[in-house]
Amino acid sequence: MTDTRLAIVVLAAGQGTRMKSATPKLLHEIAGLPLIGHVLATAGQLDAAHTVSVVRHERDRVVAVIEDHFPGSIIVDQDEIPGTGRAVEQAVAALPADFDGDVLVVSGDVPLLDSDTLTELIAAHRAGGAAATLLSALPEDSTGYGRIVRTADGMLDRIVEQKDASDSELAIREINAGVYVFGLAELRDQLAQVTTANAQGEKYLTDVIGLLRRAGSDVAAVPVAEPWIVAGVNDRAQLSEAAAKLNALIVRGWQLNGVTIVDPATTWIDLKASLAADVEILPGTQIKGATSIARGATVGPDTTLVDCEIGEDAVVKRTDATLAVIGARASVGPFAYLRPNTVLDADGKIGTFVETKNSHIGVGSKVPHLSYIGDTEVGTGSNVGAGTITANYDGVNKHRTVVGSHARTGSHNVFVAPVRIGDGAYTGAGTVVRKDVPAGSLAINVAPQRNLAGWVEENRPGSAAATAASAATTEASASTTAAAQSAGESGE
Ligand code: UD1
Ligand code: CA
Repeated sequence: MTDTRLAIVVLAAGQGTRMKSATPKLLHEIAGLPLIGHVLATAGQLDAAHTVSVVRHERDRVVAVIEDHFPGSIIVDQDEIPGTGRAVEQAVAALPADFDGDVLVVSGDVPLLDSDTLTELIAAHRAGGAAATLLSALPEDSTGYGRIVRTADGMLDRIVEQKDASDSELAIREINAGVYVFGLAELRDQLAQVTTANAQGEKYLTDVIGLLRRAGSDVAAVPVAEPWIVAGVNDRAQLSEAAAKLNALIVRGWQLNGVTIVDPATTWIDLKASLAADVEILPGTQIKGATSIARGATVGPDTTLVDCEIGEDAVVKRTDATLAVIGARASVGPFAYLRPNTVLDADGKIGTFVETKNSHIGVGSKVPHLSYIGDTEVGTGSNVGAGTITANYDGVNKHRTVVGSHARTGSHNVFVAPVRIGDGAYTGAGTVVRKDVPAGSLAINVAPQRNLAGWVEENRPGSAAATAASAATTEASASTTAAAQSAGESGE
């Protein structure tokens, strides 16, 4: 049910300088979602009456992602005055005039923040009656965060930013998580008082806390259960730390749901993936996008699946696959490369050093070794010989190859598309199939083999090959003589 007394402000205007990236900080991904996507998903669970996202740096790219993850968000463009305080000031100005509730402020760079923590914060704010309630934490290392300064009697007094802090303030371990609930009127009044007179020349939202205290209002802090929940991502080291923490949570969640994950440290699972009970994931495996893996399947080691569907009891080993559908009990790899729109039906096989693309391999059909199969349809129960290449591209257009059911094609074939090989047809080893092969025919077009006797000794005299050949010829004639003699003897 919509919380009519709640508005959420998501801060997404900052430059993210510390990432040193051409990509806006909040568009960097962990677990398959951009940082801002995580925060918007969490915000969405609160069902607030209004959600405002503040943008500026690379605004069009950031807005596109916000609209993707939270279509209902109001977008506010921050002006040239920098700072989180200015961002909130402009967000608040964009709220409907009749709104008079609480304002929850979250940064776009705290991807691990969950909705339970926010719900507790809002409840604490509403129960406590303070003008502002913020989340605090005691991380191992407080470097970079705003420190919470308390009075001698322990009252929360103000927040000092890292760059403005004295040595004694830098020693404070309690930090501001950057997540707050404010009463709207008090917030609006105090934001008007905030200046840019500080080390960074920015309007700090954190100054509102000290100003509220000076005005005689109460400010409360709610400690988070564990510091990682509010870990902010400012640089790439923190990005990988947040990714590892989230991944550990995702892996553990699937383990508790009955999935065997042999090595959590080298297994990466995106948030959108889904795994059934009794799936087994071997080390070095990445399960990305909306991949789904059915009961009993084994995936890995060293496998990357992007938006794939893996059937029950399938085995996928040392494989790279994108947008592929693997049927029940099918087997893939080791060392297979499945490109988009590969469909392998139940009990089929795509084996070692095989690349496939835009191809459908029917029930029980096999492409076991060293092949490229593109734009191809294979029926059921067929075997495509080792080293088969579909020549699907004539330099201008792509063409389809069709192999029927129960066909047996020979090793080292080229199927020059468009071409059809009928049901139950065979092709000889080394065939270049340029014409359709009717059902039940054997196609062969390799020239008869000629052996030019003595060619090496004549043309490469004195070479190691010639010496070996001459030794072999002598040996052969000696054994022929011996055989003739023994045949003569026994003939007696
Ligand atoms: C901020 C807090 C700090 C807190 C920390 C928690 C301030 C002044 N400091 O510091 O006390 O400990 O978060 O993680 O608030 N943004 C805008 N407009 C701007 C500047 C930033 O929208 O003009 C956005 C950023 O995109 C980001 C968020 O605000 O999502 C926080 O900005 P950031 O620069 O990361 O602040 P911190 O230095 O981490
Ligand atoms: Ca930050």
